[in-house]
Amino acid sequence: MKYVNRISSEAHKLVMRTIKPGAYEYNAEAMFMNYCYISGGCRNVSYTCICGSGHNSSILHYGHAAAPNNKIINDGDMCLFDMGASYCGYSSDITVSFPANGKFTEKQKIIYNTVLKARNAVFNSLRPGVSWVQMHLMANEVMLNELRDNGLLRGNVQDMLCDNIASIFQPHGLGHFLGCDVHDVGGYMADTPERPTAPGLRCLRTARKLEAGMVITVEPGCYFIDALLDKALNDDVMKKYLVPDKIEEFRGFGGVRIEDDVLITEKGMENLTNVPRT
Ligand code: GLY
Ligand code: MN
Ligand code: MN
Repeated sequence: MKYVNRISSEAHKLVMRTIKPGAYEYNAEAMFMNYCYISGGCRNVSYTCICGSGHNSSILHYGHAAAPNNKIINDGDMCLFDMGASYCGYSSDITVSFPANGKFTEKQKIIYNTVLKARNAVFNSLRPGVSWVQMHLMANEVMLNELRDNGLLRGNVQDMLCDNIASIFQPHGLGHFLGCDVHDVGGYMADTPERPTAPGLRCLRTARKLEAGMVITVEPGCYFIDALLDKALNDDVMKKYLVPDKIEEFRGFGGVRIEDDVLITEKGMENLTNVPRT
C-alpha cells in the first residue's frame, strides 16, 4: 500500500504540473493511468478516475460512463482529481484539488483553506483509540467555523452541528478503510459499533475506534451542489443558518476535496500520500 501510494502520488504530481486550461478532463485520467502503468507496473486503478473541473468538481462520483471526464477544462476552473492506482490487488485513493490555471481566486482560496484546515485538525488528532465519529464531527466543526467566519453561514456552530448543516456542503463521511477494496470491509462488524442513525452520521462508513495497523482515508470536502443548497434554503430549520447572497456568489463554484491515505501507528499516524497541499 505504501508503494501504490507512492506511485499514485507521483502520477498526481505529473498531472498537476502538466494539465492546463484547454485540456480535456480525460487527458488527466489518461496521463495518470499511463504513469502508474509505465513507471509503476500498476495495470489497474482501484476505481474509475474522477476528473471533475469547474461545476463537475461538485459531482461526487463524476467520471462514470454517463459522464466520462469529457469536459474541456477552462481557465478559472477548480480541478478535483480523485484517482488511485491498484498494485497486487491493493488500493490507493487520493484526491487533489487545485486551480487549473495555477492561481487560486479569493473564493477558491477560502474554500480550499477551509477544507485544508479540517484535514489538518484531523491529522493532528489521529492515533489509536480515537473514534472515527468524533473525527468526522471535528472536521465538520472546523469547516462550519470557517464558512461562518467567511460570511457564508451565520449562527452558533454547535447548533449547526445539531441541525446537520455540514452535510449541505459535505454530503459524505470523512473517509473509509482502504485495502484490497477501495471502500474496504470491516467498517461495521458484529462486535463493532453499529451504524449511527443521526442524519449527519449515517453516511459514515465506520463508527469504530482507530487501531494501529488500520489504513483509512481522510477526505474532507466542501461542495456547492445546487440541489442541496436549494433544499436547505427552503428548509425552515436550515435556512436560518445560510446567508443567501453569499451562498449565491459561490453557486457553480464546484467543490474541493483533499483526500489522503493514512496508516494508523502506535503513536499516531503516517501519511502514505505525498502530494502538494499548500
Ligand atoms: N474515490 C472514491 C472515494 O473517495 O471514496
Ligand atoms: Mn475515498
Ligand atoms: Mn477518492
